[in-house]
Amino acid sequence: MDRIRLTGGYELNGTIPISGAKNAALPLMIASLLTDEPLVLTNLPRLTDIATLARLLAELGVEIEVLNSKSEWETLTTRTEGRLSLGADQAKRLAGFGPDAKFRPGGRTLRLTAKTIESTHADYELVSRMRASFWVLGPLLGRCGEADVSLPGGCAIGTRPVDLHLQGLEKLGADIELDKGYVIAGTKGGLAGAEIRFSMPSVGATHNVLMAAVLAKGETVIENAAREPEITNLAECLVAMGAKIDGIGSSTLRITGVDNLHGAEVAVICDRIEAGTYAMAAGMTGGDVTLTGADPSLFEAALQALSAAGVTVDHTDKGIRITRSGTPLTPVDIVTQPYPAFPTDLQAQFMALMTMADGNAQMTETIFENRFMHVQELARLGALVSLHGDRAIVSGVKSLRGAPVMATDLRASVSLVIAGLAAEGETTISRVYHLDRGFERLEDKLSACGADISRLPG
Ligand code: UD1
Repeated sequence: MDRIRLTGGYELNGTIPISGAKNAALPLMIASLLTDEPLVLTNLPRLTDIATLARLLAELGVEIEVLNSKSEWETLTTRTEGRLSLGADQAKRLAGFGPDAKFRPGGRTLRLTAKTIESTHADYELVSRMRASFWVLGPLLGRCGEADVSLPGGCAIGTRPVDLHLQGLEKLGADIELDKGYVIAGTKGGLAGAEIRFSMPSVGATHNVLMAAVLAKGETVIENAAREPEITNLAECLVAMGAKIDGIGSSTLRITGVDNLHGAEVAVICDRIEAGTYAMAAGMTGGDVTLTGADPSLFEAALQALSAAGVTVDHTDKGIRITRSGTPLTPVDIVTQPYPAFPTDLQAQFMALMTMADGNAQMTETIFENRFMHVQELARLGALVSLHGDRAIVSGVKSLRGAPVMATDLRASVSLVIAGLAAEGETTISRVYHLDRGFERLEDKLSACGADISRLPG
């Protein structure tokens, strides 16, 4: 298994191109199940999560083509004995490894065509690797009236149930049973619009139910819907495909079902979590970094926290410029909450930054109950953090020291990179596959700005 090795103590100076958002790309790819026409997606990041989902979609019958360097469509899926699949080499390519491994700004363009749905079975082997694959349930039900989908996996950051997904789909008329770890769902006579009120604004349940509702008969109202920008990206994609959705960007979505959707071309929005991560890395090391393509309106709460910590944030015509010179970091308390508040996906990174602040800072995690696994690894680098239920108190220290550490989940692993960039001496991070799920060529992007970081093949 690959590891990341880095030697801390270098300022970051330069430009980091921000990739397309993983959390937007995944539901957009799944939306291809809703039509027999091609859905073209631009600005897709090269990540293992993209490859995992592409493999699952291929098994369901989605043909996947990539726009290659000669500007020609190249088919990635193959058909053997009547079954479509995406081979290991092609999956590697989508993940950003293999022959075209180096980071290239601009993202990938894929064409996904689900001319016919060949299977409505989403297997444990793939769904257990990544929670978002569970979101094929809604569109399969909407288009085919049936689906059996393994219960999901993903980062081990809490129990992460799917009750809201299932309640929403049942309201739309799905009959749902759980059997041997699978959700077996069907409809008698198709889905029908309904009023659905989520008890909490779940991102995944909103994606799943929204994709089912666009093909349901009549009107669906989703109240207390999540408002994350990635949901807006999906809703706008669905509208471009012919869906009727009012209230996009708000917590009440009104959907009028249509009989069919058609093809469209849609761009994946920039990754606000990746941008926030590099902003925090530059705040940690000091220096001057421009995050090109980053849209500050998508993560204002995080940028405000950074400014309050003493990091200078400027909006430029290219993106966001982050600078910090000698002054110590000011401690800042944060509370993670649904969008537009401070995102849980940046909590670990902000905690890393606060480990070197001049005083105590409190991190309150309200979204996931088990999202402090990075604390014990940060402690190996010399951080002082005490845990009190859903709160962590970070007592800033003057310096951190490099050490071997282990990535425990996607966002936690990058917090170790941020801390390692400022630590004295060498840090090695194992279980880097967590990072590869969600950060495109992290070591290339950071080393281009002066970090001493490399990947040790394992
Ligand atoms: C998505 C993001 C993830 C982010 C999270 C919160 C993707 C691929 N993943 O995950 O990066 O951290 O939003 O912003 O976009 N819950 C229930 N019942 C449900 C569904 C959720 O109780 O049926 C709870 C969860 O356990 C959690 C909270 O709701 O405590 C929020 O989860 P949710 O918004 O659904 O997160 P995900 O969609 O899994």
